[in-house]
Amino acid sequence: MSVAALILAAGSGSRAGGVLPKQYHDLGGRSVLRHVLEAFAAHPRLDRVHVVISESDKERYAAAAKDLQLGPPLLGGATRQESGRLGLEAIGQKPPSQILIHDAARPFVSADVIDRVIDALGSHEGAVPALPVTDTLKRAPDRIIAQTISREGLWTAQTPQGFRYDLIRVAHERAAASGFTHFTDDASIGEWAGMKIAVVPGDSHNIKLTTADDLRWASERYANELYRRCPDIRVGHGFDVHAFEPGDHVTLCGIRIPHDRGLKGHSDADAAMHALTDALLGSIGEADIGTHFPPSDMRWRKVESSLFLIHAAGLIESRGGFIANMDLTIVCEAPKIAPHVQAMRENLAGLLRIGGDRIAIKATTSEGLGFTGRSEGLMAWATATVRLP
Ligand code: CTP
Ligand code: MG
Repeated sequence: MSVAALILAAGSGSRAGGVLPKQYHDLGGRSVLRHVLEAFAAHPRLDRVHVVISESDKERYAAAAKDLQLGPPLLGGATRQESGRLGLEAIGQKPPSQILIHDAARPFVSADVIDRVIDALGSHEGAVPALPVTDTLKRAPDRIIAQTISREGLWTAQTPQGFRYDLIRVAHERAAASGFTHFTDDASIGEWAGMKIAVVPGDSHNIKLTTADDLRWASERYANELYRRCPDIRVGHGFDVHAFEPGDHVTLCGIRIPHDRGLKGHSDADAAMHALTDALLGSIGEADIGTHFPPSDMRWRKVESSLFLIHAAGLIESRGGFIANMDLTIVCEAPKIAPHVQAMRENLAGLLRIGGDRIAIKATTSEGLGFTGRSEGLMAWATATVRLP
């Protein structure tokens, strides 16, 4: 028996407003979609994960899916229903026995909910995580209450919704062939086609982000959860110097800056990134960059220093922590740093997967004093605030 997942991410998020579709909004340094993909890619009972996207989101998707084991992206359609059907058809060459279909706009999906749906598929044609309705329901056309509806037996349906692949695919194709386009979840298509679909306990955290308010709420919720989990606040410090040598550019924070000198070093001599790396390592009591990546080791010759920074960030992540902020000062008479600060911040934010507002980059001269004043080299100072469980 094979179980696959289909993540529907081809919507434009019109109710949330703005130009960026909601599944690509930032949630604590990762996109909403990235949270979803990590949850599914890490689930041990899923054999493969496919994502349905919009043609116009190809680049955004590539960033969200980076380094995850996923099938190639599939193209969706004009409605959720159409995206679901196109996704089901696209994976039909190697059909799974069961399929879990999930909204990309539900980033708080838990492994437990996924498990419950898969468990129920052992004895049902379909299974939907749902919560019993707790509020009193009113029908109020024109905003005047006409009727109170009994909530008995009523549930609100979430995703992932699981189905026997062959049955839900046929149901989708029949619904499309009959000209129906109004279905807003897959279970309703299965019901229409006569499938027997069970309800399993959903999760109150597994909400679908729909409005701009939902997106704000989700950011706050995610941050609060992180802060609660990581009360151990650390500060690390890093410092580095590299001498100038003949050359035509320097590399700082991974950005190539034209200059009439280069920087001398074993790697790419990115002093700024080395200081940042040491600040991260220092915050968790690790040995310095030279111990992790000895200059005597030929493997690190001429490599990009982003490798060191990502390694240090990975150590923090593997301890369940996160980077709260990084602050960097570069000291040199030339080249001028300010015009490149924005590109540097963006590059670091991408590498560290934190918001750009958590990274500060400043530059100063040393007023002609000392080795930096004589333009013999440049130096960089960095601090990092890190939070650990
Ligand atoms: N979806 C999709 N293809 C569509 C429409 C929606 O794959 N043509 C996906 C969305 O990306 C979302 C899920 O279906 O993950 C649930 O749909 P919804 O919340 O309605 O998202 P949007 O359609 O993007 O938002 P809106 O209706 O506000 O435009
Ligand atoms: Mg929609």
